[in-house]
Amino acid sequence: MALLAVEHLRVTYGAVEAVRDVSFELERGEILGIVGESGSGKSTLGYAIAKLLRPPGQIAAGRVWFDGVDLVPLRERDLKAIRWRELAVVMQSGMNALNPVTPIRRQFEDAILTHRPMGAQAMRERVREMLALVNIEERYADHYPHELSGGMKQRVAIALALVLDPKLIIFDEPTTALDVVVQRYIVQNLKALRARYHFAALFISHDLGTVLEIADRVAVMYGGRLVEIQDARALLKRPRHPYTQALLRCFPDPRDERIEVVGIPGTPPDLADLRPGCAFAPRCSRAQDRCWQETPAYRAEADGSGVACHAVQDEEAVHVGH
Ligand SMILES: Nc1ncnc2c1ncn2[C@@H]1O[C@H](COP(=O)(O)OP(=O)(O)O)[C@@H](O)[C@H]1O
Ligand SMILES: [Mg+2]
Repeated sequence: MALLAVEHLRVTYGAVEAVRDVSFELERGEILGIVGESGSGKSTLGYAIAKLLRPPGQIAAGRVWFDGVDLVPLRERDLKAIRWRELAVVMQSGMNALNPVTPIRRQFEDAILTHRPMGAQAMRERVREMLALVNIEERYADHYPHELSGGMKQRVAIALALVLDPKLIIFDEPTTALDVVVQRYIVQNLKALRARYHFAALFISHDLGTVLEIADRVAVMYGGRLVEIQDARALLKRPRHPYTQALLRCFPDPRDERIEVVGIPGTPPDLADLRPGCAFAPRCSRAQDRCWQETPAYRAEADGSGVACHAVQDEEAVHVGH
């Protein structure tokens, strides 16, 4: 059984449908990158899965199976037990969960005492160990967050997410506000931490280069929909969706530099527009009549990849002789 199975998820902010019929699975220990232009619904998807949407944001349809339990109907009281202990969230640096008026050690201790109590000596050791993991000296445990740099604060936030050994961590643009050196450090460190703790992660970013570097598989979002999922290496070599192809064409060697997902002519779709058709059609060189009328369904394959594109699906159907 997959650790996470999202089924036909829809999220609305009033008349705006920000997440549209999204389905995917995440295996235990897997890192799935979620990439897309600003406004494509990435954060909304992440927050909906963690049940952290704020009004007017709400789940309009779908299921979020986490370790066999559908989180969608759960009330806050039941979610509290799951959140943090089993499922942690790391937000964009500067917006993270650190309380500015509480020393760092106390924040770790509060989390431990609330969710997985232990003795004072064990707790002290655990805090030291967690900070060491993100390369922060123990003396900083007795500082306030505001006394640390942005990069250090973000590393503390990651350590705090890890302290209860969750099965899933949702990272929303965790390195976006940080300089490139700190970004690289965090990305590399995260892979080492995953190897040691075996957590699964959703790594949300508009920076395709970072996502390709850290993720096992990559999900591409456009206009609130998933348009493609592929193994990261396969996606780089053989992107299937015209949007993914356009993203990669903008940058000849994506591992060389940071890739801002902005380099495509035309404008992103208006999420208040609920007409059928493919949202990418106005910017797509392969758009046919049908693309303006019929929304292409995301078709998942057994290997965990999938694509939502009439042109690609037709072409590949011909190749396999249907
Ligand atoms: N608090 C909100 N109120 C109303 N609409 C929102 C709110 N947050 C996001 N949206 C809508 O949802 C869309 C997707 O936003 P978001 O999930 O933040 O995208 P991303 O993280 O990909 O940049 C936005 O373009 C906007 O239309
Ligand atoms: Mg976002």
